[in-house]
Amino acid sequence: MDYRQLGHSGLKVSALSFGAGTFGGSNEFFRAWGDTGVEDARRLIEVCLDAGVNLFDTADIYSNGLSEEILGKAVAGKRQGLLISTKATFRMSDGPNNVGSSRYHLVQSLDGSLRRLGTDYVDIYHMHGFDATTPVEETLDTLNGFVQSGKVRYIACSNFSGWHLMKSLAVSEKYGWARYVGHQVYYSLIGRDYEWELMPLALDQKVGALIWSPLGWGRLTGKIRRGQPLPEVSRLHRTAQLGPQPSEEYTYKVVDALDAVAAETGKSVPQIALNWLLQRPTVSTVIIGARNEEQLKQNLDAATWNLTAAQVSHLDEAGKIDRPYPYWHQAQFAERNPLPV
Ligand SMILES: NC(=O)c1ccc[n+]([C@@H]2O[C@H](COP(=O)([O-])OP(=O)(O)OC[C@H]3O[C@@H](n4cnc5c(N)ncnc54)[C@H](OP(=O)(O)O)[C@@H]3O)[C@@H](O)[C@H]2O)c1
Repeated sequence: MDYRQLGHSGLKVSALSFGAGTFGGSNEFFRAWGDTGVEDARRLIEVCLDAGVNLFDTADIYSNGLSEEILGKAVAGKRQGLLISTKATFRMSDGPNNVGSSRYHLVQSLDGSLRRLGTDYVDIYHMHGFDATTPVEETLDTLNGFVQSGKVRYIACSNFSGWHLMKSLAVSEKYGWARYVGHQVYYSLIGRDYEWELMPLALDQKVGALIWSPLGWGRLTGKIRRGQPLPEVSRLHRTAQLGPQPSEEYTYKVVDALDAVAAETGKSVPQIALNWLLQRPTVSTVIIGARNEEQLKQNLDAATWNLTAAQVSHLDEAGKIDRPYPYWHQAQFAERNPLPV
């Protein structure tokens, strides 16, 4: 396993990390992802650690706290040798203040996460989304306090627009506070929006990308093909409408290219989709999701070899989409606005 710097920080994260979204399954949405309990979670974590994975990602809202609880129990006794990342901002309970990135909600959220995880610190604490109703200064001052107190090691954000992140970085710099070193973003062969604004920003500001849903929200699994029904066991039956929604034609075009590269390399569709991401600029870690040990082992193998440059450009071409404004205009003046890829 290769270990990469998380943005402008001294922290090394494994190129592949593990997403605990499948732990718990306490409601219909998360049950469709998976319902891994403590025993199975222990086994999956063992497999990850054996492969060199050092980062485990969860969030307070995953299965309403149950994912954190299961992760905490499953890593008991191993805490020193691994990194835990969790998130706050979204609503966990009713009430006007039980949501957002205010000081009130973050203090409550971090205490809840630490209790459920059974630990006294979080390695990477993410703002799960931008809260436009709380002053950025209040959020970052609170997060800086968490870092000073030792309850949080590094701070990161997720699902921010370019201006959300840039404004936050400027505020941190102005006051000398901890800055976001990572951005947890959706990026896949069928979700390339990250490349327009957020990737150039990440390069310029040295913010490491932690990639979520690298298989396009569970679509680039080799089980989704033109003219074929969804497999009986697939989270997409319940979750397809609640995440990224690429058109069928676009998805199939990319799947066709993945199939062609699979035939050439002898690797599986998910392995190729993950390896493509590992070769993109700014990517510090790709967070893999797996319903079971078989999927996990297959995905972990994606970090042990490399696609050739020709195979990467074949896949790039298949997933190409029209750039929205102003990116198509900037591309016409690439001499002064070099494309990141
Ligand atoms: N920050 C955010 O807003 C955010 C959002 C989403 C996720 N995340 C993080 O990212 C992690 C991964 O996200 P994700 O689960 O959506 O990732 P994904 O890689 O897009 O999808 C994973 C799903 O694909 C299927 N799969 C995976 N490997 C496979 C294989 N080798 N063969 C066949 N099928 C396979 C499984 O679903 P089936 O068995 O149902 O087919 C699995 O649950 C999450 O656990 C979470 O930590 C963060």
